[in-house]
Order: sequence, then structure tokens, then C-alpha cells
Amino acid sequence: MPRFQAPRGTRDLLPQERSAFLRLEGLARELATRYGFQPIETPLFEQAAVYERGVGEITDVVEKELFRVQAGRGEDERERWALRPEPTAGIVRAYIQHGMRTWSQPVRLTLSGPMFRYDRPQAGRYRQFWQFDVEAIGDAGPAIDAEIIELALEFFSAAGLRDVQLLLNSIGDQACRPAYIEALRAHFGAHAAALPELEQARLETNPLRLLDSKDERMAPLIATAPVMTDHLCAACRVHFEALLAHLDALAIEARLSPRLVRGLDYYTRTAFEFYRLGAEGQQQALGGGGRYDGLVEVLGGQPTPGIGFGIGLDRVVLALAEQDGAPSAEPWKPVVVVVGADPEDTVIRLRVASQLRSAGLDCWPDVSTRRLGKQLEGAAKAGAHFAVICGDELEAGIVQLKDLEAGTQRQVAASDLARELLRAQAQHRHGEEG
Ligand code: HAM
Repeated sequence: MPRFQAPRGTRDLLPQERSAFLRLEGLARELATRYGFQPIETPLFEQAAVYERGVGEITDVVEKELFRVQAGRGEDERERWALRPEPTAGIVRAYIQHGMRTWSQPVRLTLSGPMFRYDRPQAGRYRQFWQFDVEAIGDAGPAIDAEIIELALEFFSAAGLRDVQLLLNSIGDQACRPAYIEALRAHFGAHAAALPELEQARLETNPLRLLDSKDERMAPLIATAPVMTDHLCAACRVHFEALLAHLDALAIEARLSPRLVRGLDYYTRTAFEFYRLGAEGQQQALGGGGRYDGLVEVLGGQPTPGIGFGIGLDRVVLALAEQDGAPSAEPWKPVVVVVGADPEDTVIRLRVASQLRSAGLDCWPDVSTRRLGKQLEGAAKAGAHFAVICGDELEAGIVQLKDLEAGTQRQVAASDLARELLRAQAQHRHGEEG
């Protein structure tokens, strides 16, 4: 057992897995751009108050899972930091700080990167995980709500994940939610003594959170709890019905899920989650999001509506591997390794490799002073398709080109080498995609 290991709940993404993430991040960037979302990057940590106020003090994310950062003496409120458990609060903080309300609305922003939650580690639940996030701030919907949901579904489809189901709900607003919360309090209050300790406290402080309790003992009580959609005010009902009509127009199927409330306090009206078909009950959403019409104000800005989603890339990678029975990306392999007949002459290998790279080839030189046979073994072990062998013939403008996959070797004019290899590289890449 090595002395030092990655912290519990985190893992190293080795090249093959990292490649799978990079592929998804690339798709996310392309798709977000096509929908008009601009990239933003916010710090990996913020003042803890951004999350305490934004996400809510009485949520699992803040109460149990926040990674607080201790630096200096921590006495100054401005130096009480936390690693970001999610990107929305930080992006909204940036929207306010940079006066984005004067920009064309809604401001469409996207970010992909790591998030941190001190969660109980298990497959698909990590302490550092990656999200693809989009936010549209400054439009009250419902058209943008449908557009955002369409974007999320397009992402799953581009990633190659089939059978992703959309669960949808409306969780009301400041006007109608208080009466609903009272109805919840009455329902759970009737069983107060049977509630687990944390849930008993939440019955007083934040009854809505009882609906997303991860404690299995809560399941029967949640299943019989009153639902928000029976308590919506007229404005929220109109919004929800209009959203359903927009989704219908886009041929997007939604499964209404009246007990879906999401685990963060900032949501209003539209709330949604994505699951693989048949995995809805497993608390392992592939992604989720919703409207947060009060969040900008909570963080000190002018009242401004907003909506967004976060997709868990770790879970998408896992789901793809499960669906396809194989990793979702091939490890990177060099197309060409340049080897040399003279073990000592590393200069010639560097020079040839440099020329081939300038011509657009993926290539590296063997930089060792081992014998040619060992160099070729190394190239094969690295998975290279070709080895270019530089020997004395190079003075006469000739090299040997060895196809390591086919086990064949032929002589090539150095002046034709790049062209020949580029043709082979194109076929090689094409073969990988097929
Ligand atoms: P969330 O539902 O807390 O929402 O997280 C979004 C997604 O991140 C989840 O559906 C899941 O796929 C992934 N995720 C969450 N926790 C973990 C974990 N411990 N390990 C692996 N994956 C995880 C948000 O974060 C909101 N900011 C989404 C949003 C954006 N709402 C509006 N705009």
C-alpha cells in the first residue's frame, strides 16, 4: 500500500478516464456555444456566506457537505471561505459584481469544472466531482425554461447516452409556497416522534427539505406527503402550464414528478432532474436544475429571475460505461514514434520528430540511449501505430517506416514521410471513431 493516496471520496482521473471527461467537456462547450451560452470561470472558492445565503443554511449541501477553507486566523467574515459545492451561487455573485444586468438579457453563461461536497462516498457520489453547468439570468420564462431543458437533453444525446428521462415539477414561489410548507408541516408533524433526528429539526426549520431526505426511513412518509402542484397560485400554474406547452411543441416528453423539490433552497417554480430510465429511485440523478427567481436578490442584487442546470459528468461517464459495457474513450496513443539506429544520436530523433509535428502529426521521439530493438519495443508498448527509424541512410534522404500494427517495414523518402504519415494518421483517426 503506497504511503500517500488520493483523499477518500476523490480519485485520480487517469488518461483514459480523463479523455472521457475531455470528450464530454468538448461536447458541452460546442453545444453551449450553439445555444448562445458564453464561457465563464469563477474561483473554486468563495466567501462561505455566498453558499450559506444562496444555497441555504438548512440544506445538506451547507449543513453537512461544505468544505470550509481555513486560512489565516479566520476571524474576518470576508476570509471565511468554502470550496464551491455548486456553481450557480458563484455565477450569480459574479453577475451582480460585474453589473451584468446592463448586458443584453438573459445573460447566458456556461461553466464546466470541479465541485466539492463532503458527501458520503460511494459509486457516483464523490467529494470532488465535475459538472457541466449553464445559467440564463434575466428572463422569467417559460420559453427559456424549455430551451434550457432541450439543451440538457441534447447534451445527453450527443454524449451517446440513451433512455434519459426528464422528471419535472413546479415548486411554486413566495406567494404560494408558505401555505404548502404549512401543509407539509402538518403532514410530517403528525408523525414527528417517528422522524429521524435531523428530520425532526428540519420539521421546524425547513420542512421542504424533508422531501429530499436521503434517509430511507422517510420514504413512506414522503410518498404520502401533500404535493406542491395542488397548492400553486394562479401565476405559478400559468407558468407551469405554459412550460408544458413549450416542451410539447419541442416534442420533449416530461414525467411529472410532484414530489421533486431538489436539494437547494434557491429554487422557485420550475424544478427538474434527469435520470436513466429505471434508475429514478436511486438518488443518482445525472443532472438537475431549475428556476431561481429570488437568488440574485438574496445575494444583494436587484430582483432578477434566472434558470439553469448542472449535469454530473462523473455520472454520465459511469452511465455510458454501464450502457456500452466499455469505457467511453480510448486511451491516447501516439501515431508515430521516431527511433534511431544509433543509440547515442538523440539529436537526429528530436529533429525529425520536430519536423513531423510541424507538419501536423502526433509524434514523439524516443529520447533514451537504449538500443534500437529496445526503442522499438518501447514504441510498441506505448501503442504507436508507426515507428520511423532514422539511420545512416538519412544522409541519402531515406528512412525506414515500420508499421507496428501490421508488422511490416518499408523504405520511404524523407521528403515524402510527412505526407505519407498524415494520410495514415487520417485513416488511423477515422478507424478509432469507427
Ligand atoms: P445538484 O442537483 O446539486 O444541482 O447537482 C447537479 C448534478 O451534479 C447532480 O444531478 C449530479 O449528477 C451531480 N452531483 C451532485 N453531487 C455529486 C457528487 N457528490 N458526486 C458526483 N456527482 C454529483 C446543482 O448543483 C445546481 N447548481 C444545478 C443548477 C444550476 N440549478 C440551477 N442552475
